[in-house]
Amino acid sequence: MDPPVSLNTINPKVIECEYAVRGEIVTLAQKLQEDIKSKPDAHPFEEILYCNIGNPQSLGQQPITFFREVLALCDHPAILDKSETQGLFSADSVERAWRILDQIPGRATGAYSHSQGIKGLRDIIAVGIEARDGFPLIQMIFLTDGASPAVHMMMQLLIRSEKDGILCPIPQYLYTLLQLPCMVELWYALIPTGWGLEVSELKKQLETSRSKGITVRALVVINPGNPTGQVLAEENQKAIVEFCKQEGLVLLADEVYQENVYVPEKKFHSFKKVSRSIVLKEMESSHLLARRAKALEDAFNKLEGVRCNKAEGAMYLFPRIDCLKRQSKLLKLRKRCTILPQEEKIPAIITRLTDFHNCFMDEFRS
Ligand SMILES: Cc1ncc(COP(=O)(O)O)c(C=O)c1O
Repeated sequence: MDPPVSLNTINPKVIECEYAVRGEIVTLAQKLQEDIKSKPDAHPFEEILYCNIGNPQSLGQQPITFFREVLALCDHPAILDKSETQGLFSADSVERAWRILDQIPGRATGAYSHSQGIKGLRDIIAVGIEARDGFPLIQMIFLTDGASPAVHMMMQLLIRSEKDGILCPIPQYLYTLLQLPCMVELWYALIPTGWGLEVSELKKQLETSRSKGITVRALVVINPGNPTGQVLAEENQKAIVEFCKQEGLVLLADEVYQENVYVPEKKFHSFKKVSRSIVLKEMESSHLLARRAKALEDAFNKLEGVRCNKAEGAMYLFPRIDCLKRQSKLLKLRKRCTILPQEEKIPAIITRLTDFHNCFMDEFRS
């Protein structure tokens, strides 16, 4: 019998998982590095430079001092009151550490916190997102210890069985997707004018997956892209959001590189902002429609012999006109009227409608 943990008994998805970023080339590089260490002239080069992982600090880039200092001070607040701290840490870091600690219950970074993350810190993040996007934020923030855990969490929520899938662009930063016990649909990013997400291609991929009996639950978009390096155009993002809305897909936007945009002609737009602007437009248009519906409804109800119910949805009013024909027969008419004309045209419509109705009633009144 196999032991409980062996190649034969572990999750087969882990064995199938291919992760080129840490694959054969890296293994060879590590061997070459060992060679050079033991024998410096073993190869016609002196060092190995790893370009396989987005890992700046392993290539000598210094971490940002401010973050390190703030972290150190938050984790060991006892030093905040020491006189030496003023010389060792910048005044900005000390000030920020106090601000953060004031948000943490008991000023204890080691304590378990609210499951969504510390409330005060979520509030600060919400302010930052509002400033970035220009939209007030509904507090739906869940803090995680990295982008990958957040994606994994969403997958756990979404993937119910092997028949559920997620659309991911390829090439992609591999979220160790294949380790999850789920069917994952992979989709190729295109190169029409650089990298983009063509909605027609997404549709095709969705249809293909559906025809195989897969329920596609979500679409992953990485923007700016890894490894494709694209910054999506806002129009393209709008089309993607509309696509997800139409198809009932959750949009998982990985925007960890939002500060890294190098070309002046491109600007980062968060998917949150893009989707909020679409929703706002829809709300504005339904608000406008409600105003037009009310103006027309009031106008109809002022007409002789007319009763009009309130329009609660859609785009129509359906007033009833009671009049008496010349031969003394009661005539009940219903007319459908859309509420779509532009708002500034509504008063003219009401005047003409009233004039017409008065003439009509003169002719057909009892
Ligand atoms: C696009 C993208 N998302 C997520 C991650 C990983 O983020 P984290 O370390 O916060 O899980 C990376 C790291 O390279 C990445 O490139």
